Amino acid sequence: MFISFEGIDGAGKSSHIQALVQHLQNQGLQVLQTREPGGTPLAEKLRQLVLNDAMDPLTEALMIFAARRDHVQQVIRPALAQGQWVVCDRFTDATFAYQGHGRGFQLDVLQQLESWVQEGLQPDLTLWFDLPAHTAAERVAQARVADRFERQPLAFFEAVRQGYAQRAAQAPQRFVQVHADQSLEQVRAQVLAAVDQRLQTPSP
Ligand code: TYD
Repeated sequence: MFISFEGIDGAGKSSHIQALVQHLQNQGLQVLQTREPGGTPLAEKLRQLVLNDAMDPLTEALMIFAARRDHVQQVIRPALAQGQWVVCDRFTDATFAYQGHGRGFQLDVLQQLESWVQEGLQPDLTLWFDLPAHTAAERVAQARVADRFERQPLAFFEAVRQGYAQRAAQAPQRFVQVHADQSLEQVRAQVLAAVDQRLQTPSP
């Protein structure tokens, strides 16, 4: 099974990804933990450029999808073919949310790139960490030095959040909305419940 974690910056995905990987491994499953942009040596180089260097929106989208292509071909497809579980910190929903809704880049171009790059591959389950943009921004401000995306104004993250909401509405069977403004324990319970439910009723 292929699981992606999504949400605006400051939604608090990281510690829950770690906990889920541990939870799956405890059940004897082989789990590959990875992230986007990144996940291969080439894609990690592209990540550094995308997060730090100014570029026009099409260049940004192409670089993100170039990184994704390498990651899908070199890592994700081979792992799934071997029966491993893949847990990925962000995937293509982030591109629709950030580049599409945040930056305002054309969604139809992103759709084209998505179909070229993924050839039908989608996560089986996407855990969308959702919370108000201002709550997330407060967390980011306390936590770390901001990259190109984290420096964006609140309105950008409100648009990104809307982008995730739209993607979730388009694929309700794939998305689970996690209420990320709750306590750590409550969020963890939501994550494990969503995954355990899928474990019991695997997608067709
Ligand atoms: P993130 O995954 O939040 O990592 P960290 O916890 O190290 O900050 O950061 C990746 C950033 O890249 C995040 O701001 C969202 C952005 N991003 C896009 O804009 N488009 C994409 O397709 C992906 C995968 C990420």
